[in-house]
Amino acid sequence: MRSIKLSNLTKSKHGSLIIDKVNLTIPAGKFFALLGPSGCGKTTLLRLIAGLEDAEGGQIYLGEEDITHIPINQRPINMVFQSYALFPHLDVFDNIAYSLKLKKLPKLVIEQKVFKILESFHLVDHIHKLPSQLSGGQQQRVALARAIVSEPDVLLLDEPLAALDFKLRERMLIELIELQDKLKTTFVYVTHDQFEALTVADQMAIMNHDGAIEQIGTPKEIYEFPISSFVAKFVGTTNIFSGQLKNIHSDPEITIPDLGTFKVYLSQKKPWMVEGHEVSMSIRPEKIFITKKEAKNFSNHMKGSVQSIVYHGRSTQYNITLKNGMRIQVFEQNEEHFPQEVVDYDNEVNLYWQKENVVILER
Ligand SMILES: Nc1ncnc2c1ncn2[C@@H]1O[C@H](COP(=O)(O)OP(=O)(O)O)[C@@H](O)[C@H]1O
Ligand SMILES: [Mg+2]
Repeated sequence: MRSIKLSNLTKSKHGSLIIDKVNLTIPAGKFFALLGPSGCGKTTLLRLIAGLEDAEGGQIYLGEEDITHIPINQRPINMVFQSYALFPHLDVFDNIAYSLKLKKLPKLVIEQKVFKILESFHLVDHIHKLPSQLSGGQQQRVALARAIVSEPDVLLLDEPLAALDFKLRERMLIELIELQDKLKTTFVYVTHDQFEALTVADQMAIMNHDGAIEQIGTPKEIYEFPISSFVAKFVGTTNIFSGQLKNIHSDPEITIPDLGTFKVYLSQKKPWMVEGHEVSMSIRPEKIFITKKEAKNFSNHMKGSVQSIVYHGRSTQYNITLKNGMRIQVFEQNEEHFPQEVVDYDNEVNLYWQKENVVILER
């Protein structure tokens, strides 16, 4: 297992910059996820690492080795494509054996390796089927088996589950986590789906619309402490308020026009956190407590009126209008069959939250 390091990696297509001086270290033997909106350049980045495209500027290192200009077939890196890209005229065995045959391994060794992987991927019963005779989930397994049978140092996965239904996707995510844990191969998983990225990643990076990396961290760091409004909104759901920072040297607050002044907590001091400065405040919907009654021991309170309610099973989403006309969301866990208090449409409600649970962002 080896790490990947991208240094000022740059690529443009038809005159427009797609990958803009990306610097990124992907740790060895870890499950790494790259999350970004459609069209931001994720596939292009993977194709550069795989060697399917040439870098225009910058370097790609595999461990200590500069592989920027090493041909694709000499990189110990395999890729699983969104479309699976199985060979339609080859059966399951031959699809998986393909790369081993190219390496001219002895027939017996090939058979042993392929059978071992067929067993662990529950594909033995399908060994002589063509891709067209398999379900989407089975084709996905064959594509994965084909990519790991040659024991690459790095496996690149480009939205590998996008074509599967939700239940199957959830199961495959868990299988991928367990597979990576067993193999300790460096996995780079690209997706536009924040649920997938949060589920699989040891470490993740968020790419913005301009093909630049905005933040790198563990899923928890990214979700709880986003460094920009883009990250806060793209990963999960959040409520963003605009206001002025006050009292930053003693008991920091934010003043929001037509709404009031609220306590905040500045977990890290940043240069732009200046008295009177315009900032944004992010509060996740599940961090707000909603009740028709009054509650004690919260640092902040505001009132709102319930516009609509969406029942999600495990949680309920309240869409609320505040007195300045702003709409926010609040999530509540459905902990009981028969909750003591029922919040209804048109109810005036009290909203409470702790100052430690907000994030102050640069505007
Ligand atoms: N072959 C190509 N020719 C021209 N533009 C391309 C080509 N491939 C991708 N692009 C453009 O590059 C950008 C990034 O594409 P891509 O890497 O596929 O993004 P993602 O995988 O994040 O959806 C997009 O704006 C896309 O339109
Ligand atoms: Mg893509």
